[in-house]
Amino acid sequence: MAKNNIHPIFDRLLKRDDREKMLNQKSKVIWMTGMSGSGKSTIAQALERKLYNEGFFAQVLDGDNIRIGINNNLGFSLEDRRENVRRIAEVAKLYLNSGMITLNSFISPTKEIRQFAKDIVGEEDFIEIYINAPLEVCEARDVKGLYKKARAGEIKGFTGIDSPYEAPENPAVEIKTHEMTVEEAAQKIFDHILTEIKL
Ligand code: ADX
Repeated sequence: MAKNNIHPIFDRLLKRDDREKMLNQKSKVIWMTGMSGSGKSTIAQALERKLYNEGFFAQVLDGDNIRIGINNNLGFSLEDRRENVRRIAEVAKLYLNSGMITLNSFISPTKEIRQFAKDIVGEEDFIEIYINAPLEVCEARDVKGLYKKARAGEIKGFTGIDSPYEAPENPAVEIKTHEMTVEEAAQKIFDHILTEIKL
């Protein structure tokens, strides 16, 4: 009903191209998926710093940060994770139009959820990166102590324990974080995306 009174003005706004020219880059959505403790946030931060040093305008959007802000009403059921990812994808799309490169670091555990994000953003602007560390490695790291709690039954529906994680089949880049340093991982992603973000 309310939609009847909404009059978008997209055609009178500046275009994404104009802002990309100003920033001297092509905006993209770099979508990093992987289990908790796989290294997504750490690599996203290193990559953000690297992009900044190389003169690119980029911004990390990260699960834990977003979940205390815009998504603070969501939990970890598959339905809530889907809604979490839907809102992030919409935010990333707004950033995309602003000329910004976003580094999105969310478990985004299922193929369906990631496909949903890709559909919102648009396939041509969505670059999927698989941050792959075996469950044993993530669990041994247990940076936040959450695996211990999940094993003890204090957290229900934890990804990899009693909630699914489906690995991507055709990621643009796969990073095995137990086989390389954070710097090497950031460099590998940077090398891959360079041709896509260079104007
Ligand atoms: S997603 O599945 O909806 O994409 P998101 O990346 O936003 O997840 O949040 C994951 C972070 O939430 C984890 O790194 C961890 O710190 C925390 N967390 C809390 N409960 C859970 C849970 N049940 N499963 C996975 N991560 C959880």
